[in-house]
Amino acid sequence: MRKLIAGMKISADGKMEGPQGTADWVDAWSEDYGLTPQIDACVLGGGMYPGYEWYWTSIQNEPDKPIWITGNAPTPAELEWARFITQTPHYVLSSSLTSALWPKTNFVQGVEELAALKQQPGKDIYLIGGARTTASLIDAGLVDEVRLIVHPLIAGEGKPLFAAAQRRRELELRKVQQLPGGRISLIYGIG
Ligand SMILES: NC(=O)c1ccc[n+]([C@@H]2O[C@H](COP(=O)([O-])OP(=O)(O)OC[C@H]3O[C@@H](n4cnc5c(N)ncnc54)[C@H](OP(=O)(O)O)[C@@H]3O)[C@@H](O)[C@H]2O)c1
Repeated sequence: MRKLIAGMKISADGKMEGPQGTADWVDAWSEDYGLTPQIDACVLGGGMYPGYEWYWTSIQNEPDKPIWITGNAPTPAELEWARFITQTPHYVLSSSLTSALWPKTNFVQGVEELAALKQQPGKDIYLIGGARTTASLIDAGLVDEVRLIVHPLIAGEGKPLFAAAQRRRELELRKVQQLPGGRISLIYGIG
C-alpha cells in the first residue's frame, strides 16, 4: 500500500506557524524532506490550499521575483518544486472549497476518500499540511510517517502542530540528521 508521509518545518517548541500566521523562520518552502523521488500525489487541507496555490502560481509565473513570506527570490529547490507540482495531482480535504486554478487539483470531503487513495496503485503520497489536517489524518490512522525539520528557535505564541490531535500515538524514530543553520531533520514512523 502507498504510504502517506507528512512533512513539516517547526520551531523547537512545536509551532508550525507564529502568531502572525506564517512560519517566518523558514527561508524557503521547498520540499526539503527528500520525498520528491518517491511521491506522485500530494494531500493538503482547505485552510492552507488557497495560499499554497497562490504562492506556487506566483513562482511559476514570475520565477525571478521575490516571493511572499520569505521576501527572497525563489531558491533552485523552490523552482524545482514549482515545476514538479504542475504534473502532480493534489487532493484537498475540504467541504467548503470547490474550485482551483490547477487542473490536477481534486477536492475530497472526508478521510475515507484518502484511505481509498492509499489503496490505489502508485508511489507514496506527501501530506503537506496544515496542522488540523495533519492531526485529523494521524487520528484517523492514515499517516505512516512524519518528517520534521526542527528550527532552532522558541516561537512562543503561535499554532502548535499537534494541538488538534486527540489520540496518543507512539512514534518510532527512524532517522536523525543535523542540517545547516542548526536545524535537525527527524523521521518518525507512526505505529
Ligand atoms: N510549518 C510548516 O511546515 C507548515 C506546513 C504546511 C502548512 N503550514 C501552515 O498551516 C496553516 C494552515 O493550517 P490549518 O490547521 O489552519 O488548516 P488546514 O489543516 O490546512 O485546513 C483545515 C481545513 O481542512 C479541512 N479538513 C481538515 N481535516 C478534515 C477532515 N478530517 N475532514 C474533512 N475536512 C477536513 C477543513 O476544511 P473545510 O472547513 O473547508 O471543510 C478544515 O477547515 C497555514 O497558515 C500554513 O502556512 C505550515
